[in-house]
Amino acid sequence: MPTLGVNIDHVATVRQARRTFEPDPVQAVTAAEAGGADQITIHLRQDRRHIQDRDVHAIAEMVKVRLNFECACVDEMLQIAIATKPHQICLVPEKREEVTTEGGLDIVGGRVRISTAIELMHANDINVSLFIDPVAEQIDCSNELGADAVELHTGCYANASDGDARDEQLRILSDASQRVLEHGMQLHAGHGLTYTNVIPVAAIPGMEELNIGHTIVSRSIFVGLEQAVREMKELISV
Ligand code: PXP
Repeated sequence: MPTLGVNIDHVATVRQARRTFEPDPVQAVTAAEAGGADQITIHLRQDRRHIQDRDVHAIAEMVKVRLNFECACVDEMLQIAIATKPHQICLVPEKREEVTTEGGLDIVGGRVRISTAIELMHANDINVSLFIDPVAEQIDCSNELGADAVELHTGCYANASDGDARDEQLRILSDASQRVLEHGMQLHAGHGLTYTNVIPVAAIPGMEELNIGHTIVSRSIFVGLEQAVREMKELISV
């Protein structure tokens, strides 16, 4: 049964819509923990679209469960990670014009930069997860560079429209998962997962961690964040 990382970026998105003080992501951490979150995930983007630097500091001080710090593989963010000391850093690609993280990080193309980042994080006792597409060469290269975990991008699965297309994407995810486990890396997944599509991904053998944000924050508008997290936690406890 996978653990649940609750991504609270979009609590900050609502606040930033007015550049005010509410809703407060720190309060979201407390509610998510009360609902059974095993981890809090935050993505400090270079454009500071949602989470702000002060949120990172405040959350790192008060969070009781694991903190997963998502960021681009750039010096500025790696230095913030070192200062923050999260349990885990998850390296993601970032494009300024994107609505959300669109594809996995290209480990093969960026191997020198990523390998240096992994060494730096390990020297500071921070685990490294790489957010990648479910593609064999990206998985193999992640392992070669010494990543502790990979988070498989579930966007294509989530976007697949009909049953056949979704089954095919699930097969791709399952094969990729097996490859990750054969390398001895931890298996994580996330992006686009919802209350209605999460169960087959949670049921992939060896799945250790799911990072889920938008659907939980969306549901929290109607039932509250604690309850929204509790419902997701129950669903993935397969
Ligand atoms: N995992 C990673 C690496 C992400 O970039 C995101 C989106 O910020 C998520 C998980 C969560 O995706 P969603 O908000 O679609 O649940």
